[in-house]
Amino acid sequence: MTQILVPVAVSKQDLKAIESQLALCPSLPSLGSINKALQGLLHAEQRFSAQISEIIRRDPSLTARLLRLVNSVYYGLTTPVNSIEEAVFYLGVRQIRQLTMVTPIIEDFQRLTKQCNFPWREFWQHSIGTAILTREVIGTVQAPNDEADYVAGLVHDVGKIVMAWSFPEHFSEIHRQALGGTEELSKIELEILGMDHSELGALYLERHRLPEVMIKTARFHHHPELTDRYQHAIASVQIADLLMRSEKIGCSGNYVPVTRDECLAASGWAVLFPNAQEAETAIARASLHRSLERLPSVLEGLV
Ligand SMILES: [Fe+2]
Ligand SMILES: [Fe+2]
Repeated sequence: MTQILVPVAVSKQDLKAIESQLALCPSLPSLGSINKALQGLLHAEQRFSAQISEIIRRDPSLTARLLRLVNSVYYGLTTPVNSIEEAVFYLGVRQIRQLTMVTPIIEDFQRLTKQCNFPWREFWQHSIGTAILTREVIGTVQAPNDEADYVAGLVHDVGKIVMAWSFPEHFSEIHRQALGGTEELSKIELEILGMDHSELGALYLERHRLPEVMIKTARFHHHPELTDRYQHAIASVQIADLLMRSEKIGCSGNYVPVTRDECLAASGWAVLFPNAQEAETAIARASLHRSLERLPSVLEGLV
């Protein structure tokens, strides 16, 4: 028996309609407070792990996630880790710092996505995994100096979350069509809504006066060669995003398959290595594959 698909009555929206709907979308307080939280944690790095543990202890959901993470990453431990001090010892300050940022952002995001049927858990894995890999990619050309690139990786697809909240019917129809995996998601979004998630995310972040690096990442993460600032961070997000899709870790909602060769041909590589020899980029790529192998178990523990 063939299933008859009843088309949902959704029509393309113009910029004015999109903007007025966007104005109703709640803000994400975690993104606004991120800079303050980062400062505190950056200083914590110089202190003893006991003080870091104290910061974590104040946040019960972070504590729970942290213990879950350490026990899933180090699943070979004979006795499970139950104390924050032990978790800090195993994970290291850097991972803890990143986890501290992820938790409130994802919890904020989750509040916006209740009404739409979508593989959200896999989508959080896509977002966090892209953030982790963005760090690794940018690390092949420069020493990361703050966590801005990590946060940029984390929020690159915020437009999809905003779309689910502001245009749930359009969102459902878009993702019903995207499942076929024959057409790029941005193209379907343009056809059905009239705007893709890159632009929608950028408009949303602009409206809430969030840092420019986040806005530009949302807008240019599929075309880092077009940005006038933060080229390295945005090129790294593009590559990280493609790697996540080609390795089929998590779910971005874009089902068009990505091959390894397409990852290697991404425009972001030329942004990162404008004059590089082949050997130099080959080393960078090899180190990324090692990170990719560890990623699924890290993500299992996080969301
Ligand atoms: Fe995207
Ligand atoms: Fe993505």
